[in-house]
Amino acid sequence: MPYNARFMCGFASTNSQLTCDGVSLSAIASAVDTPTYVYSAAIIRNRLKAFGSAFSSYPHAIHYALKANSNLAVARVVRSAGGLVDANSGGEIELALRAGFDPLDIVFTGVGKTPTEIDRAVGLGLKAINAESEGELGRIAVRARQLDTTARVALRVNPDIDAVSHPHISTGLKTHKFGVPISDARQIIRDASLHAGLSVVGLHVHVGSQMMGLGPLRQAAKAVVELVAELSDDGVVVEHLDMGGGLGIPYDGEQVPSVTAYATELIKIVERSGLTLIIEPGRAIVGPAGVLLASVVDVKPKIDGGLFVVLDAGMSELMRPALYGAHHQIIPVEKSNCELVTCDVVGPICESSDVFGVGRMLPRPEVGTVMAVLDAGAYGSAMSSNYNRHSLPVEVMVDGGDWRLVRRRQTIEDQLACETG
Ligand code: LLP
Repeated sequence: MPYNARFMCGFASTNSQLTCDGVSLSAIASAVDTPTYVYSAAIIRNRLKAFGSAFSSYPHAIHYALKANSNLAVARVVRSAGGLVDANSGGEIELALRAGFDPLDIVFTGVGKTPTEIDRAVGLGLKAINAESEGELGRIAVRARQLDTTARVALRVNPDIDAVSHPHISTGLKTHKFGVPISDARQIIRDASLHAGLSVVGLHVHVGSQMMGLGPLRQAAKAVVELVAELSDDGVVVEHLDMGGGLGIPYDGEQVPSVTAYATELIKIVERSGLTLIIEPGRAIVGPAGVLLASVVDVKPKIDGGLFVVLDAGMSELMRPALYGAHHQIIPVEKSNCELVTCDVVGPICESSDVFGVGRMLPRPEVGTVMAVLDAGAYGSAMSSNYNRHSLPVEVMVDGGDWRLVRRRQTIEDQLACETG
């Protein structure tokens, strides 16, 4: 792919280098060192705007899935752009509050909510706690009664639908741990609606992530709309249908449904219920808004030809290639006229799965060359770890032609602060 063919908004190449909203990525790498994630606030805003316009004809709410990237600055950009949030843990709820979200801006999902998380969620009075089982509904009800309040709950249903995505990120089959079988949902909701302490406000479904087609979402929407009709026969009226996230992004130029096609399909099915449509996009908001900058620390020949290009970032900074065999484009930040060579781009971690890309054609890299790993804004930094005692990666936000550090580099003291030895 030609050097500049890929970028439209935010990340662009000049004649000499890759930039983010006009800011030189080389300059950022020199200033803060690598590995570093760089985000474009403009792209995050544009993506949210695209969702907002696509759904504008129908009552809806966009709850950005914080799990994709819960950096405080990212959450604040989402909030300032009018987005709401989906939190997947007590930690993400606290993060959302610190970013300025109101409890009524938060839906709380998650298999296996702890008693502490349930206490906090009920106490705050969130917009909806997406319950994953009948037992969890019971525990929420008990806590709500103790607090003399009513918890707003939605039931997550498992419709037994194949998301046709990577098996690790498909969640809608009956063999998956998520939600309750949709065939049991009617009875469970009927019972829950009689519980003092619970107000059943919605249904929740999320069949998978990085979906490249709309078929599974369409099927899931039809299934929950049918359930709504059955519930209304039982005299149970809910407020919203939460269709989860899952819209895929092109990591390697693949065709993915547009946000407009996605919205049109969902609205077409859900509108006969008359219920507010909630969606929880994560990747589609922040994925294209971030790159991971990493420096080449070694180059060595492979025994059968080509080069190993070792970066200072690996699976501890970006887990997706090792965990899912995920593809991310990798390009040098500074344009180079060197001959193209076949490279296996690898990380420094002591695992053979620590590989970012095999057989990539790159201008001959040298030690010190800064590479950008593209479309790394979602599930990049959020899944990073201290494995091999790497520091968590630095994060930079580019906004309005300026950049700022939004997470400094961890020191070894930071890492050891919680250890007692
Ligand atoms: N809602 C629920 C209930 C979810 O479980 C997820 C993602 C989302 C929303 C957001 O889905 P998205 O729009 O981002 O596809 N680490 C994996 C992805 C895991 C997704 C987990 N759940 C990856 O790097 O591909």
